Parts: sequence; structure tokens; C-alpha cells
Amino acid sequence: MPQSPRRPALTALALALALGACGTDLTNPASGGASAADGQAALKGSLVAVGKAIFHDQNLSLNRNQACVSCHDPAWGFSSPESRINANGAVMPGSVRERFGSRRPPSAAYATMSPIISYNAEDGTYVGGNFWDGRATGERLGIPAAEQALAPFVNPVEQALPDPACAVFRASRGTYGGLYRNAFGTAVDQIAFPRNTDGLCAVEGSTIALSAPDRALMLLEYDKMGRAIASFEHSPEVNQFSSKYDAVLAGQTTFTPLEASGFAMFNTRANCSACHPSAGPKALFTDFTYDNIGVPANPKNPITRTNPLFRDLGVGGFFNQPGEWGKMKVPTLRNLDKRARPGLAKSFMHNGAFKSLDEVVHFYNTRDVLPACETTPSPVFGVNCWPAPEVTENVNTDELGDLGLTPDQELAVVAFLRTLNDGWVAGQP
Ligand code: HEC
Ligand code: HEC
Repeated sequence: MPQSPRRPALTALALALALGACGTDLTNPASGGASAADGQAALKGSLVAVGKAIFHDQNLSLNRNQACVSCHDPAWGFSSPESRINANGAVMPGSVRERFGSRRPPSAAYATMSPIISYNAEDGTYVGGNFWDGRATGERLGIPAAEQALAPFVNPVEQALPDPACAVFRASRGTYGGLYRNAFGTAVDQIAFPRNTDGLCAVEGSTIALSAPDRALMLLEYDKMGRAIASFEHSPEVNQFSSKYDAVLAGQTTFTPLEASGFAMFNTRANCSACHPSAGPKALFTDFTYDNIGVPANPKNPITRTNPLFRDLGVGGFFNQPGEWGKMKVPTLRNLDKRARPGLAKSFMHNGAFKSLDEVVHFYNTRDVLPACETTPSPVFGVNCWPAPEVTENVNTDELGDLGLTPDQELAVVAFLRTLNDGWVAGQP
């Protein structure tokens, strides 16, 4: 995409306003005396605490077997922890285990920094939102991550609860019910849930019978859950900025010569920073724009196995605009290589088509240099050919595809990317 400055990430103030209960500015100490500020800090702390509890609660799924953390594990940079799945289809099963969506879980870290989606006419791109296709726009709650967080509970291929009332009911009666009321107040206790609510919540297709005023109250509670999850996701426990890269910037350590040359390459010939900007101490390595970089289909993805002609239209599908077909949100590059143990598998891109960073960088470097696999005798993916893009429309051919990097320069870029894993400790390479 073009190099002009894009929209800034959500400011701390805008975010605090969006997350704050009752519109309170949670971060501005000037908005009250010492005790008011203390009270606000406590409220912020309790929102984070209940958000964390909800993020980890498997009871908030149809079969009580899946939480957010099941697909967004901290030891894996808040992405998928299933090595075998990552090595293959890359799509995590839902609470109903034989059911799958079509995309791989991106990192849930740094997602709170994405602004409300908008169209930048100058650059010709959407900017902001959450999900690969931006459909958690942020317009309703003021922050995409709070809206995103409400989708998985009732998504049939994820946590699969039959009614948002089930999430509110089970969370407010969970082991962290006290935390819940600390953060959200006791309005939830005014809702007359039917006596068999818990049982109904374990049965697909149920609706929880609530009076119209009670349903409205329940939906307010549900929104509070979304805001609390976003508060947790915005906390330093998730957005850590604790990688070797951050330590280098803070003057605590230095890059190896290979990493340093990779960083230079990233910003120059490899042109990665055009879409994954690296400027500034808290660089997010995404500008939250959308692009079709021509990723091929992942033949092992469950959706492609069912329908080899499946095409994920990305943000162009969501907005029903052919000119945007195939464009996916530029993901952060932080935590790319973070995994529970070396040797376990991760996958990359919306459909999990790539399995290593070497493969990714080689793709950017040679997509338009190697012939198409479809026309190559004995094709070997990435060695003597690349498969056709999953979506052939709107492929970006200006900024990637033929970078002219040598194999050593490719290795250097990969070495740099590995410095972006959070949790670096002094003394490590
Ligand atoms: C079954 C696995 C699964 C579960 C459970 C799950 N997610 Fe996700 N998550 C995904 C997938 C897949 C995507 C991408 C979906 C898409 O783009 O359509 C995603 C996307 C996201 C994103 C968007 C990141 C971005 O940069 O746009 C965030 C944030 C996130 N999930 C947080 C959560 C939270 C919070 C929960 C619990 C309420 C949760 N997820 C439950 C698989 C899961
Ligand atoms: C024109 C914009 C653009 C440029 C330039 C660009 N990227 Fe990307 N990058 C994207 C988009 C968009 C995606 C997601 C594509 C998809 O899933 O289909 C992506 C995905 C990735 C991923 C996968 C991340 C994940 O969590 O799955 C990596 C790694 C990556 N890029 C690294 C790089 C590197 C290294 C460079 C430079 C060689 C680079 N990118 C240049 C737009 C860009």
C-alpha cells in the first residue's frame, strides 16, 4: 500500500473512553482528586481482572470445553496452541469438536490498538477494525476489540452458546461472580433468568426466555463483558512490548549483526515496513490496513478440503465490494515466532498456508519470479513454483513479489522477525 502516513492507532484517551464504564475516563488523573483517581484505577483494575477471568473460562462454551485462551494462548503469542493443527489445516475446532470455521486464529495481542474502521480514500484502503476482514468495526462500542470479544461466545464454530444470555448467566454465577459485580455492579441480579437456564445453555438452538426489559438489561451486561475482555487485552499482561526488539530500542541490549542487517533490510529493500511499520518505540508492525498479498489457498484447511474452489474475500466480502476482494487485515508481526517449545508448529496468514517464517519471506521475495505451480512439471511449493493466489483479484504487485533479496538477506529478515517475540529476558541471545 502507499507510503503516506496512515491513521494512527487508537489513542490512549480514546481507548479509555471506549472502555470506561459509564463513560468515565479511566486514565486521566486530572479528572478528579486523588481519591477519585484511586477509585478509577481500582475500577480499571477490576475490569482487567474480570476480563481475564472471562478470557480463561471454559464454562462460557456449549460443552464447557472452550475459552478464548483455548485459541489464543499466551505461550504462543496469544495464537493457536495446537501444533498438529497448526502444521495442517490451521483452523481450530469449536466447542463442538467436529465443527470448523475457515480462518486461523491471529494473535489477540495488540488487537486493542486497532482504530474504528474507516475508509482512507487517499490511500484507497480500509483502516482499522478487528478480524481478518474487519467485521468487528468498533462503530457500536467505540473499540473494535470490545465488539470482537462478543462474537466467539455465540459463534456456532467457536464457543457455540445458543444465546448471549448464557454467557452473562454463566459468567455472573461463575467462581469470579464477586469480581463480576465489583466491576459491573449488581444490575445483573435484577434479571429474572428462567430456572432451567443453565441446562438450556448446554442445548443448541435454545433461546432463554426473558422479558423485553430483562433482555435489554442482559445485553447491556453482555456489552460490559466485551469491554472487560478488551481491558484485559489492552493491559500490559497481553500487550507486553517486552521483546528483544523493545530491549534494543531501550538500550538494554544490541542486535546480532544478522538481526541488524535484517532490520535494515525490513525497512528498505524488503519493503516490509510499508505495511508493517517499524517506526517508534512501541511500533505495532501493522498499520491496520488491508491488502491482498496473493496468499495461495491452504489445501489442508478444512474449508478448502470441503470446497477446493473456496475463496476468502476478506474485507471485500464483508463490505460486498469487488474492488476490495481478497484483502485481509495486515496482522501485527509481534510474537510471530513465539511458541510453547521449540520444534512445535505454527502457521501464518489468514488460512494458515505458510508454516515457517523462511517460507513467508521467500514468498514475498519470489512470488512473481517463480513460475506458477499449475504450469510446472513436478511442482514443489516455494522451490520451483508458487501456487496461484486464493483470490486472484486485487493482488498487490507494486510492493512485493520480486524483492531481489539474496538467500542470506532472506535469512537476515527472518532473524530480525524472531526478535519480536515478547518475554525476552536479559542474557538470552
Ligand atoms: C475456536 C477458536 C477461537 C476461540 C474460542 C476464540 N477465538 Fe478469537 N479468533 C479465532 C479466529 C479463527 C479468529 C479470526 C476470525 C476471523 O477473522 O474471521 C479470531 C480473531 C480474534 C481477534 C482479532 C484479532 C485481530 O487482530 O483482528 C481477537 C482480538 C480475538 N480473536 C479474541 C478472542 C476472544 C476475546 C475470545 C473469547 C471471547 C476468542 N477470541 C475466542 C479463533 C478463536
Ligand atoms: C502491501 C502490504 C504488505 C507488505 C509490503 C508486507 N506485508 Fe506482510 N502481510 C500483509 C498482509 C495483508 C498480511 C495478511 C495476508 C493474509 O493473511 O492473506 C500479511 C501477513 C504477514 C505475515 C503473517 C503474520 C501472521 O500472523 O499470520 C508475516 C510473517 C508477514 N506478513 C511478514 C512480512 C514481511 C517479512 C514483509 C517484508 C518482506 C512483509 N510482510 C511485507 C501485508 C504486507
